[in-house]
Amino acid sequence: MYNEKLRDQKKIVLCEDGTNTLYSKEFNEPYHSTKDGALHESLEKHVKPALALTKNKTQLTILDICFGLGYNTFATLYYLKKYKLSIKVHILSPEFDEGLVRSLATFDYPKEFESIKPIIQAISQNLFYEDEQFKIEILLGDARKSIPQIKEKIDIVYQDAFSPAHNPLLWTTEYFKDIRAICKEDALLTTYSTAAAVRLGLYENDFLVFVHRAQMMRYSTVASLKMLEDVEYIDMELKKQRNAEARSMKDRDYQ
Ligand SMILES: C[S@@+](CC[C@H](N)C(=O)[O-])C[C@H]1O[C@@H](n2cnc3c(N)ncnc32)[C@H](O)[C@@H]1O
Repeated sequence: MYNEKLRDQKKIVLCEDGTNTLYSKEFNEPYHSTKDGALHESLEKHVKPALALTKNKTQLTILDICFGLGYNTFATLYYLKKYKLSIKVHILSPEFDEGLVRSLATFDYPKEFESIKPIIQAISQNLFYEDEQFKIEILLGDARKSIPQIKEKIDIVYQDAFSPAHNPLLWTTEYFKDIRAICKEDALLTTYSTAAAVRLGLYENDFLVFVHRAQMMRYSTVASLKMLEDVEYIDMELKKQRNAEARSMKDRDYQ
């Protein structure tokens, strides 16, 4: 398994959008695309498409995989506050690096997060936050163990683990089966990954697959349990025919 000592070895990296992320020596990868930028990536690949495609809902339960620096969670709060959207949001976020979450009170976040600083402090201290609109829970420990324990039904999954090459167990078809089991029937999932193996793993678990395009950003993937209007649909049966060698990732290959 992963090396506990390496978990403490991270260095701050400045992204091209001017926001800070970390580089993980444990996973040999940055927490965000330094080219797309931590805040920009979070808003464009996750928060904006997810909220736009669930805009009829007044309450959302979001699974944020995994918490890391919390950009996806904090950008969700920032965006809802900025546009004065009164949607009630409950965010559940697995994370096994407790030391990282506890260090976030002093992390140098972008100015956009200034107004949610007290929330960042509370999460860093208590791994939990709740007010009238937001409830945020960090699920400490291995996501593969905590996800099947979740009782809530999920509207949105931010699938933002380290890459399939470096963190394969958070991208397998069995992993997506566990995700599917806790999803509402109209749930959607956002991810930066456009890999055929990942899309197949989603498709094998009832998700329809779409391309998401945003400005100044590499395209990404949106997957949904129901058909979406006005989003570029990918015919996965056709993809399978054209790429007969493609396979989803399987737990047994990485254990
Ligand atoms: C790419 S980072 C997440 C970035 C995050 N969304 C953000 O905005 O900062 C991946 C995170 O997953 C965590 N992680 C990796 N494998 C995990 C597992 N099996 N269970 C729980 N957390 C895990 C790592 O500690 C790391 O914080």
